[in-house]
Amino acid sequence: MGYKEVYESWKADPEAFWLEQAHAIDWVKAPTKALSDEHAPLYQWFADSMVNTCYNAVDRHVENGRADQAAIIHDSPVTGSKHTITYAELQTRVAALAGALAAKGVTEGDRVIIYMPMVPEALEAMLACARLGAIHSVVFGGFAAAELAIRIDDCTPKAIIAASCGQEPGRIVEYKPLLDGALEIATHKPEFCVIFQRDQLPVALEPGRDVDWHAFQADVPPADCVPVEGTHPAYILYTSGTTGQPKGVVRPTAGHLVALNWTMKNIYDVDPGDVFWAASDVGWVVGHSYICYAPLIHGNTTIVFEGKPVGTPDASTFWRVIAEHKVKSFFTAPTAFRAVKREDPKGELAKSHDLSHLQTVYLAGERADPDTIHWLQDMLRIPVIDHWWQTETGYTIAGNPMGIEALPVKIGSPTVPMPGYDVQVLDEGGHTVPAGTLGAIAVKLPLPPGTLPTLWNAEERFRKSYLDTFPGYYETGDAGMIDDDGYLYIMARTDDVINVAGHRLSTGAMEEVLAGHPDVAECAVIGVADGLKGQLPMGFLCLNAGTERGADQIVADCVKRVRDQIGPVAAFKLATVVDRLPKTRSGKILRGVMARIADGEPYKMPATIDDPAILDEITSRLKTLGYPQQS
Ligand code: COA
Ligand code: AMP
Repeated sequence: MGYKEVYESWKADPEAFWLEQAHAIDWVKAPTKALSDEHAPLYQWFADSMVNTCYNAVDRHVENGRADQAAIIHDSPVTGSKHTITYAELQTRVAALAGALAAKGVTEGDRVIIYMPMVPEALEAMLACARLGAIHSVVFGGFAAAELAIRIDDCTPKAIIAASCGQEPGRIVEYKPLLDGALEIATHKPEFCVIFQRDQLPVALEPGRDVDWHAFQADVPPADCVPVEGTHPAYILYTSGTTGQPKGVVRPTAGHLVALNWTMKNIYDVDPGDVFWAASDVGWVVGHSYICYAPLIHGNTTIVFEGKPVGTPDASTFWRVIAEHKVKSFFTAPTAFRAVKREDPKGELAKSHDLSHLQTVYLAGERADPDTIHWLQDMLRIPVIDHWWQTETGYTIAGNPMGIEALPVKIGSPTVPMPGYDVQVLDEGGHTVPAGTLGAIAVKLPLPPGTLPTLWNAEERFRKSYLDTFPGYYETGDAGMIDDDGYLYIMARTDDVINVAGHRLSTGAMEEVLAGHPDVAECAVIGVADGLKGQLPMGFLCLNAGTERGADQIVADCVKRVRDQIGPVAAFKLATVVDRLPKTRSGKILRGVMARIADGEPYKMPATIDDPAILDEITSRLKTLGYPQQS
């Protein structure tokens, strides 16, 4: 069957389609029914099933002949180490960790925060939680203590599992002070913390609170897999949007298993046993789905890469890892390749590596710019596939299903909707617009299995953020269009989200931090185009009358504030002081107009602008920051 037939077969009978895919999962109690719609527009999948994620990702492969296959390859150029963990070893390690967590009282439904760098132990911690039916929430290492604290208070974990440190090129990231700082700020206090000591920076443990990763596993029996209901939350992953308070995206267990397993062959075209590499971080959804769960559920070998595309030690690292571990499918964010391209524009470094196993490159997380795609295509002479998805969905909404049929690539488009997604472009009134017309991208409900059923402890916010604007649809927050051939184009966000080096950040959250500065009366943060990172945040600050500190000092304070309160990952380094912000007569800040001026794009003077002269000041301030940039 080709793409059209598969898509039509899903559309004709979505329940039959997903029940068929469910056969690939090992159930404790198989689902008899796919969709439950009694509480529409809230839906559930495989509600009457019982299953365990860890069993499907680990134990069943040991039982079915993959015991000695590599499950995880840890390749860490930042620490100069490499090692492989087989499925049998992974089972032993995960069962032991789960046993120790259980002995400390962690049971089904308890939340556990994981704050770890790119080490196999991060995946083991996730799988150990899944083994017990505990709900993990992984927090990205590049966030500051305050962000960790927000997540601690929102999901109220029984335990936190952290490493002593992470390793960024040229600097050790000390996790312990961040953890201690977060626990000081947070109202909720976990019962205990497990600390994984790394050789790079062993730390002193807090008596009565911290236990050592290895020591607390000694003399404790391993834990078996605990069956949970199909709708049980597998994990919570926080993501940005609309306000400073991150949204806790809930991932339902059974749908997650079924859908992710389906994607491995149909979208990524790998078979069990093949090596799959997603160069991302466990702190992001790509890391959850395609470093940890999907490859393991499907019986692949996954690579945990602790390094950067450049500088660890150079721009040939991706090619070295692909050649050395015989990677068949490689997935990363376009920004990573832009970094490589900048250092090796002619692609000379790839030539000295045997890339013959590499079949396809996949890009996601941000818009894939045509230059980068052409550069990759010319160099590698294999398909380079853009695909579009979100933390909320956990896997591809629109892509090119290479395991079903390689559709012609149109550069600039992530191709077509995948089975499960009825994607529509809507106008402000919620009506479908004609092909080629810009609008809000929405997905007709119900969303497919594995996508978010709700937000953690925030059903009202879930409805408001995603369901209320267009009744009967899920609002993606992206704007774009569908062309005459049914190809989708993602053009912009409709909310305050910006995408910095493939990382999703909220400008609203940054504004909250800036507004907290005692000298700042008012502020706005916009995303400006950046050749490497896609976008960068830029802040405009209006100061209180009579401030004694100079503008430069206040800008420096603000840069530090964002780094300290959100984290280095926000990459907030551009800010300037202005007299006033451009606003409409009703007081709405014209962030879109400011962003267009910064990017050197034409803009229409809004009819409702309060005082057009303010834009001249913004333009001259931008000039002093070097914007618009010369390309
Ligand atoms: N822990 C602690 N700090 C981290 C971190 C982590 N896990 N990840 C990033 N940071 C820090 C960086 O050290 C940097 O700090 P600095 O301001 O002191 O230099 C800051 O956060 C910004 O990091 P980043 O955006 O990664 O920029 P960079 O200049 O270090 O690297 C790229 C640029 C393009 C090489 C890098 O962004 C990259 O590899 N991107 C790929 C993105 C990706 O995988 N996205 C996932 C979605 S698929
Ligand atoms: P995240 O939830 O961090 O994965 O970010 C999801 C958002 O990133 C989407 O809503 C888009 O705005 C953007 N995004 C992801 N993939 C793509 C893509 N292939 N093309 C354009 N934008 C993308």
